[in-house]
Amino acid sequence: MKFFIDTANLIEIKNANDLGILDGVTTNPSLMAKEGISGEENILNHYKNICKIVKGDVSAEVISTDYKGMVEEGEILANLNPQIVIKLPMIESGLKACKHFSEKGMKTNVTLVFSVGQAILAAKAGATYVSPFIGRLDDISTDGLNLISEIREIYDNYNFKTNILAASIRHSMHIINCAKIGADVITGPLSSIQSLLKHPLTVSGLEKFLADYKKSN
Ligand code: E4P
Repeated sequence: MKFFIDTANLIEIKNANDLGILDGVTTNPSLMAKEGISGEENILNHYKNICKIVKGDVSAEVISTDYKGMVEEGEILANLNPQIVIKLPMIESGLKACKHFSEKGMKTNVTLVFSVGQAILAAKAGATYVSPFIGRLDDISTDGLNLISEIREIYDNYNFKTNILAASIRHSMHIINCAKIGADVITGPLSSIQSLLKHPLTVSGLEKFLADYKKSN
């Protein structure tokens, strides 16, 4: 399972990359705005900077909602760096743009996916990644992890090559359950990845080892 970090914060990306387990980055317009990145030139430069930190795929989302605009924007984003994955919303024009880019052999991530039907369409359009938002489903009392299981089953039935990128991850249990189900990738905040590391028995065990060492040295 690949680990992507879901942020546009360069320090967090660097910290996650330094852990040695980072496979890529996902961003979205809200995450860019959170970092105060605005204006086309600044946004494009920011994507270039992200690509310098991490080796893997970096999802960059289009702002256009019409097919022509998405295609033009996607071309500009993809030309920034071969690591860039064109992130497209799951709307009719996004689906058509996904088909267009996949036919050209360009990487895509279909985002804002909340149902199996949407995930089937993304796979049919040749998406590289499909991003079901599990945390946002949980927020409205719908089982987000169940959506990941259903997509896994359907993709396996038909040998769809689209990677399931479990998004809107909130905590370590989301990551662990996604691993059990067989999600191909998870994307979450640095805190969700770091929390996998922590265990009170590790802390107390290390304290004891060091105390015993001190006693005899
Ligand atoms: C996916 O690529 C999105 O950027 C993201 O995971 C959304 O997560 P949120 O629900 O925490 O905003």
